[in-house]
Amino acid sequence: MKKVLILGGQGNASVIANAIMDANKRGANEYQFTGYINDRDNAEEIEGYPVKGGLGDIPRFIDEGYYFLNTIYKIDGQRERIQLFDSLNIPDERLAVFVHPTAYIAANVEFGPGSVVMPNAIISTSVKLGKCARVMIGAIISHNCTIGAHTFVAAGSCSGSNLKVGEGVHISMNCTIREFLTIGNYSTLAMGSVLLKDMGELEIWAGNPAKLLRNAQ
Ligand SMILES: CC(C)(COP(=O)(O)OP(=O)(O)OC[C@H]1O[C@@H](n2cnc3c(N)ncnc32)[C@H](O)[C@@H]1OP(=O)(O)O)[C@@H](O)C(=O)NCCC(=O)NCCS
Repeated sequence: MKKVLILGGQGNASVIANAIMDANKRGANEYQFTGYINDRDNAEEIEGYPVKGGLGDIPRFIDEGYYFLNTIYKIDGQRERIQLFDSLNIPDERLAVFVHPTAYIAANVEFGPGSVVMPNAIISTSVKLGKCARVMIGAIISHNCTIGAHTFVAAGSCSGSNLKVGEGVHISMNCTIREFLTIGNYSTLAMGSVLLKDMGELEIWAGNPAKLLRNAQ
């Protein structure tokens, strides 16, 4: 099995780690979760699993044959976090692509390197997931959507068809998005919102119907 390290900690990294281990119990044998990369608090373990090192140790782990997933993002600060990730120069072929076996995935879905699909997600025909895009538990992405690199599609959200979603976007829990819309880079749609109009770049929208709440940093 390919040994995977997840950049991040409790929260998105640990839920993905647990999904990988659950996939193994169901017979999947492509990836083995082996620990976290985390520079915070000098922690040696997170929820019982080892912190193998910090970001500075990544070149060594690349040499040692590890694969990687990234979860280090921030709603106000997506550009900086993506620049930080890019500065690590992890080769695309060393980014894992993890799809939990309970997800429904149409046969022609395209996965960018480092993309993740969590349990019970549904991804319909002709969807393209960008590099490091993450589709969380129970999220639904309808047909012909393009989801940009480093974009997060949170649990229970429902995306209509033919969306063009930019880079580093955060679609929050339980959102509903009308078909044929565009969401600009580094923008966030707040929890439970119903989006009926296009969103620009670096914008945070909220509510039903969703309206501009503020600009993102
Ligand atoms: C969009 C978001 C980032 C806004 O956070 P924030 O900037 O800290 O905003 P605040 O909580 O200070 O709220 C500011 C205003 O927006 C409103 N607001 C915040 N979130 C809202 C939402 N989801 N829907 C409607 N209004 C919302 C607040 O009521 C408040 O209004 P007020 O000024 O009239 O009192 C946050 O609500 C959100 O959705 N986070 C993502 C959560 C998520 O997806 N988590 C999944 C991770 S696993």
